[in-house]
Amino acid sequence: MNRIHIPVLLDETIEWLLTRRDGVYVDATIGAGGHSQALLKHLDSGATLVGIDADGTILDHAAAALKEFPQRILLAETNFSHVTAVLKSQHITGIDGILMDLGISSLQIDEAKRGFSYQQEGPLDMRFAEDATETAAKVINTASEEKIASIIKEYGEERYAKSIARAIITNRPMETTTDLRAAIETVTPEPYRIKTLARVFQSIRIHVNRELEMLKQTLHAVLPYLHSGGRMVVIAYHSLEDRIVKQFSKWAESDCVCPPELPQCMCDKEQELKILTRSIVRPSDEEIERNPRARSARLRAAEKV
Ligand SMILES: C[S@@+](CC[C@H](N)C(=O)[O-])C[C@H]1O[C@@H](n2cnc3c(N)ncnc32)[C@H](O)[C@@H]1O
Repeated sequence: MNRIHIPVLLDETIEWLLTRRDGVYVDATIGAGGHSQALLKHLDSGATLVGIDADGTILDHAAAALKEFPQRILLAETNFSHVTAVLKSQHITGIDGILMDLGISSLQIDEAKRGFSYQQEGPLDMRFAEDATETAAKVINTASEEKIASIIKEYGEERYAKSIARAIITNRPMETTTDLRAAIETVTPEPYRIKTLARVFQSIRIHVNRELEMLKQTLHAVLPYLHSGGRMVVIAYHSLEDRIVKQFSKWAESDCVCPPELPQCMCDKEQELKILTRSIVRPSDEEIERNPRARSARLRAAEKV
């Protein structure tokens, strides 16, 4: 099965992200370059796009997709948590917008040897970048039962985390996604299998790539680089990511973080962002029909004050 990656919430992303046609933008999860292509069509030739992806193989797709555009395009193969180092290395001191379209691309899911999919047999890898410290196999084969249960519970929000962790321990060592799938299925009743498989695979992927930690770190790191009026747009695909974005935006919007029992403000916190999407932006029914992968997407946007 070989799909292309269809960019999610494309028009909405451009609408919330674009403020200056000659600006400097960061696509922190450039993937196959779908969002960037659409953005570049709206930018003047003097604009700059910095595209980041941890996955070098996917960055080749982005480079091919963007090669005809006249703007200055800088691609970096690195974790987006290094965004400020990338900007510094290019002597960029401020940006007008940053997009983070989180998670994985359809191209990565479809490549069996990456081990992201429970639908295809592949090695238990699941790393975005080969230099990530541990593979899924390492976690599955060496972590304690309690640790595996907590990963599945916390990052997969899976009710049967404990019994799944037990089944994993009983069936290890494991080498492939098929081995993991089979172990999960031994304790998952038929009607729940697909959702449970998706949640468990997701939880291990999040753990392997330290996705939530990287997201939190990057939101904080990039904030000082946004010009006044610059925008931050994040598309999340599960509630854990979305909660981090929501809490960060609220924190950045507030001008006081003192405990409520204090009679007056004692902190020097200043408002840094204004939340633009008071309710989250979701794909239309038509988009979900066209691209079922979009169904869990939620977009939030905020502007630097
Ligand atoms: C949903 S895809 C992005 C698709 C892209 N917007 C497009 O239109 O083609 C997410 C991409 O982000 C990358 N990614 C996820 N977490 C990352 C991180 N912490 N640092 C850098 N890249 C990351 C993945 O490798 C993947 O290519």
